[in-house]
Amino acid sequence: MFKVGILTASDKGYIGERVDESGEVICSIMKDKGYSIERKTIVPDDIDSIFREIVTMADDVKVDLILTTGGTGFSLRDVTPEATIKACDRMANGISEAIRYYSLQITPRAMLSRGVSGIRNRTLIINLPGSPKAVRESLDFILDSIHHGLEILTGAGGECARK
Ligand code: MTE
Repeated sequence: MFKVGILTASDKGYIGERVDESGEVICSIMKDKGYSIERKTIVPDDIDSIFREIVTMADDVKVDLILTTGGTGFSLRDVTPEATIKACDRMANGISEAIRYYSLQITPRAMLSRGVSGIRNRTLIINLPGSPKAVRESLDFILDSIHHGLEILTGAGGECARK
């Protein structure tokens, strides 16, 4: 069973002015798929806070996968991708390309998400957009492949079938 950390970046969520619906959506989808939720946090839209939380989840809690939601857009406070890049040793651009490719078939506004994906040691980190709808749509498309990627990253088997 892979271990997951869920990080919501939201100034309003952090001070309790907004309910963290997207974090809950991620939580319920991942539980349904058999993942174990090890940590779920809300941090303000601030590079250092997001960076520190990613590092804690990856290095101390040692989750296999961190899913972030929020802070990928164009507002000046949207800095989740920058914090994620800072925490990663290697980028996994294909995942975010896939999210945008699929999402663009649903809404042209998908081009406005600057989300990135990458790897810190043995932890995969994926930025999802902020709305519950966008979270559902993105996870729908990537989860099967992500499972295979996690098997390879964590050494839990998962040879690629070469046809
Ligand atoms: N992706 C999907 N699949 N569905 C959506 O509704 N909304 C877009 C985009 N990605 C959307 C989506 C919109 S309107 C924005 S502004 C960006 O995600 C950034 O969202 P964020 O700032 O909440 O992270």
